[in-house]
Amino acid sequence: MKIQIINGPNLNLLGVREPEIYGNNDFEHFLEQLRKDYPEIEISYYQSNVEGFMIDKLHEVGFAYDGIILNAGAYTHTSVALHDAIRSIPAPVVEVHISNVFQREAFRHHSMISPACKGVICGFGLTGYRLALEALI
Ligand code: DQA
Repeated sequence: MKIQIINGPNLNLLGVREPEIYGNNDFEHFLEQLRKDYPEIEISYYQSNVEGFMIDKLHEVGFAYDGIILNAGAYTHTSVALHDAIRSIPAPVVEVHISNVFQREAFRHHSMISPACKGVICGFGLTGYRLALEALI
């Protein structure tokens, strides 16, 4: 089984960025553990701060992989283009957010991409990616 994780803008700064919201762990360390825990799954990882590059990645893997775990960061709340990209590919996409966006500012309460995704997980920290992987399996 091939699974792609895509992280969007500012998520390259996990562990450094607002640790009271996003925690102290960097993503690479978490990913190393996840790959150890699921040795039978091929887990690819991509992070970009650029909306178009995230769309390119969705097009690239969306016809070949079994599932995609997507944390689109702030583009979640703005991007019709990501919504369209998710709708354009056959691979199921699980939307993940580290924080509980519904406990935060009102502008984070609406997701442009949720209607195009298979499901949504938010508020469980990095464990959300693990839950998304379980859901895809
Ligand atoms: C986030 C929530 C978004 O509102 C925010 O813009 C992010 C991270 C999360 O994982 O909690 O960059 O997607």
